[in-house]
Amino acid sequence: MKDKSKALEALLQENRVFAPPQDFVAQANANDAAIYDQASADRLGFWARQAESIDFFEPYNEVLEWDAPFAKWFVNGKLNVAYNCIDRHLKTDRRNKAAIIWEGEPGDTVTLTYQDLYREVNKFANVMRKLGVKKGDRVTIYLPMIPELAIAMLACARIGAPHSIVFGGFSADSLRDRIDDAQSTLLITADGGWRRGSVVPLKGNADQAVEGDSPVKNVVVVERVGLAKSNANMVEGRDLLWHELMKESSHICEPESMDSEDMLFILYTSGTTGKPKGVVHTTGGYLVGTASTHRYIFDLKENDVYWCTADIGWITGHSYIIYGPLANGATTVMYEGGPDYPNKDRFWEIVEKYGVNIFYTAPTAIRAFMKWGTQWPESRDLSSLRLLGTVGEPINPEAWMWYHKFIGGERCPIVDTWWQTETGQIMISPLPGLTKTTPGTATVPFPGIEVDVVDEQGNSSDAGYLIVKSPWPAMLRTVYGDPERYKSTYWSRFDDYYFTGDGAKRDELGNIWVMGRVDDVLNVSGHRIGTMEVESALVDHQSVAEAAVIGKTHELKGQAVAAFVTLKDGFEGTDDLMAELKAHVAKKIGAIARPEDIFFSAELPKTRSGKIMRRLLRDIAEGRKLGDTTTLADPSVVQKLMSQNDE
Ligand code: WT7
Repeated sequence: MKDKSKALEALLQENRVFAPPQDFVAQANANDAAIYDQASADRLGFWARQAESIDFFEPYNEVLEWDAPFAKWFVNGKLNVAYNCIDRHLKTDRRNKAAIIWEGEPGDTVTLTYQDLYREVNKFANVMRKLGVKKGDRVTIYLPMIPELAIAMLACARIGAPHSIVFGGFSADSLRDRIDDAQSTLLITADGGWRRGSVVPLKGNADQAVEGDSPVKNVVVVERVGLAKSNANMVEGRDLLWHELMKESSHICEPESMDSEDMLFILYTSGTTGKPKGVVHTTGGYLVGTASTHRYIFDLKENDVYWCTADIGWITGHSYIIYGPLANGATTVMYEGGPDYPNKDRFWEIVEKYGVNIFYTAPTAIRAFMKWGTQWPESRDLSSLRLLGTVGEPINPEAWMWYHKFIGGERCPIVDTWWQTETGQIMISPLPGLTKTTPGTATVPFPGIEVDVVDEQGNSSDAGYLIVKSPWPAMLRTVYGDPERYKSTYWSRFDDYYFTGDGAKRDELGNIWVMGRVDDVLNVSGHRIGTMEVESALVDHQSVAEAAVIGKTHELKGQAVAAFVTLKDGFEGTDDLMAELKAHVAKKIGAIARPEDIFFSAELPKTRSGKIMRRLLRDIAEGRKLGDTTTLADPSVVQKLMSQNDE
């Protein structure tokens, strides 16, 4: 905590204030500060006005029904998300506008107009119906960033089958857990995916995930890299090829009429326990929340080319590559590969090639760009850019300034957007035509959103925990299959407030500085990893008796996974075993969870009541002088660990 508050002092002294540029203000979607007052005077009225941009088949009769902590938004309204993201645009000048501009890692490209997207989505929706998928049935999607991913998710929305997208970097075991929890009957995957020129064996993982007892009846396989190259094996009677199914499918498919509160998707995310939570998002509120924030925060204009670099396997991709942008009739860019493939200017090449106007990425990526040097962005024409965004973790002021200068050419406002898988939509962010920004703060809540910083007792304070005081349209509705966990995780710490799990401070200008997680959740390159998940993966290895996992400050990733491991008798902490344990975690969870460091220790430092002292472990991992050790049951444990780390 001490180091954190030191870091904060440095941040709060950050007094560079950037007012929105005059020419930006003149054209901004939101340039009248009255929007804030109006929304706080009549919050539900504000959201009702936002809902006017969504087409309902049947009108809702109440904006919000709040039976804390269970919310219903736009009660009894009937609508379809795919219809809103596609069909309604066909009746306008947008029919032949690019909906999705896709670029593959090897350089292949596809542009889908709204009309194209309509045809492909309907065809795949019919494919799924033919395979027996009905409204309410869950479909798991394990695909790389290819057009079929967007098509599959919109097709699910069209027939009312909630999707559960599993990031392609997750392992077979993680995929199996998510399939089993959702009880999905259909899995959509690809033979493989491209990652820096090599093939990610998605189909191989998928096979392992559905082997033996599984609710999955069919696996639809997109041929992305070629069946021969990927070594993908097709299982007769179960596996079907996407392109063959699509050949005969009709492009007429009536959208299902969904209730505002029908489930749109489940997305699994890490929490404080070993088991990821299935965050449930529904239809009406989610669409209103994502579309309105996208329009205002990214100042979307009809002819903009908008690019969010996230993977659709995370909430950022769900809300701000697909649903928000397409509901707004935007042109959204989708890129399959890494930022440094084949060269470290790949992102800037894409910005130049498509004339990207709005660019949304993560601090971890910005720190990598900084490290690679300014020659890469400087060799490309980035003059099309007019607005920049960031998300995923607190942005360090140096990275903010670098982004501002070398990517934004000192002319583009930066929106630092705070939100979560659970919030569904951006909650804290500047409005780029209204809000003065300062590097490192996400500034103020979006209109209609009520957040606060509170102390242990739940009283408003300038430092403490970040909470949300009232329901918002895109909020999670529950944890799939576990409403008790929903209540206890989010709504029990502070009676009537939603607990975010983040610590925060508020400065004298009213800006909120999010300081990072206060629970056992790590943020590695903007991705959430539960310490317990990694600990369970380690303990799952035959050699491990006990494991404690912490986040270690990392220059590029923000945090890196560090593990302290006690071995069972008869095992020795060799380099080989270290490598094996790292590989074991990657295999159990996915490469993102692979520990950067493993420390072997005969014992773990514990308090007299048996609690592992993670603070000390962090000090050790980061090579700091140790804080207070007087509560340790056995102080010599720490000495041994320290001397080992010095070696
Ligand atoms: C956690 C949520 C939804 C975006 C992707 C991550 C951290 C996110 C910011 C920001 C400071 C941020 C928080 C939050 N976070 N954005 N702009 N400033 N912290 O979604 O995986 O659900 O993680 O990411 O700690 O709780 P997620």
